[in-house]
Amino acid sequence: MADLDTDYLGLCLKNPLLPSASPLSRAVDSARHLEDAGASGIVMYSLFEEQILAEERQYDRFGAHQDLGHGEASSFLPQPSGFRSTLDRYLEQLALLKRSLGIPVIASLNGTSREGWLDFGLELQQAGADALELNVYYVAGTPEESAGDVEQRYLDVLTDLKAKITLPIAVKITSQFSSPLNFVHRLQQAGADAVVIFNRFYQSDINLESLSVEPALQLSLPYEALLRIRWAAMIRGAVDIDIAVTGGFHEADASIKALLAGANTVQLCSTLLTHGPARLGEVLKEIEQWLDDHEYESVRQMQGSLSSRNAADPAAYERQNYLSVLGSFTPPPGVRY
Ligand SMILES: Cc1cc2nc3c(=O)[nH]c(=O)nc-3n(C[C@H](O)[C@H](O)[C@H](O)COP(=O)(O)O)c2cc1C
Repeated sequence: MADLDTDYLGLCLKNPLLPSASPLSRAVDSARHLEDAGASGIVMYSLFEEQILAEERQYDRFGAHQDLGHGEASSFLPQPSGFRSTLDRYLEQLALLKRSLGIPVIASLNGTSREGWLDFGLELQQAGADALELNVYYVAGTPEESAGDVEQRYLDVLTDLKAKITLPIAVKITSQFSSPLNFVHRLQQAGADAVVIFNRFYQSDINLESLSVEPALQLSLPYEALLRIRWAAMIRGAVDIDIAVTGGFHEADASIKALLAGANTVQLCSTLLTHGPARLGEVLKEIEQWLDDHEYESVRQMQGSLSSRNAADPAAYERQNYLSVLGSFTPPPGVRY
């Protein structure tokens, strides 16, 4: 039996499979099922600062309304002492998961203000998180905001957080940076312990009947894993940082490829939401089988053996291969043009 241990964020994990941030960490039962299936740790759903701010605004309005005085009706209003905010609930859930599970719990934070990132980051550390994942899901929506501005904001937040907390930090980024390698390199220089590649952007859709724009959540498809595998190989060859892949990892095959490319861990979400927590155990078993069939003694032995530095043909990951890929297309049988 191959040794499945992997290092990630300063933690020695018993295997490379982690459930990524998702509603599965909202219930202790689901989290326990994931642990039973073999999860080596769990990333919690994100704490969203905008949700906390919206709640505070609502609470302020409610308080102001109460001041107007509505006689008898005001006595029906809930007492402030019973109020549990989004933050309170998140911290309670984190503490509960820590008490209930034997695996590391990685908290996830999506801030909007500098103070939010810093203050909530500290709260998550104090509540006992083993590490922190920064979910930097942000859409630059004004023409004045440059790519450099967006990157610098994240670098500043990271630098300040590293000065304030001692937890290992992973930064979950999208693929939509002009130069992902340069950005990851600068994240590493600013103190990031890991990158999580890549957050998926959820697209809005246009409803052709109501002519309204609606948010559309679609689970990932397996082909999306290729983008992550390619960039894991590129990052592993160039930057000394831990890598988690997320996005399109439904099967053992893609997970094995990501490990060969250089990932420390593989995060699963859509496949667990579709098939349930036990799916993690199936993927894990297939990875173990593949390692044995190919006579690997450990995950560490194979990790990064096909990174851009170690692959026999690094150009296959890079631009040089672009033309040959385009030239490799052949029309399906019976189709002529
Ligand atoms: C219902 C749902 C909720 C999610 N919630 C979060 C979240 O709170 N924070 C986060 O960083 N990612 C969140 N994600 C993104 C996942 O963690 C993951 O990165 C993404 O789904 C890609 O992985 P997959 O292809 O395995 O689904 C969520 C995804 C789904 C489908």
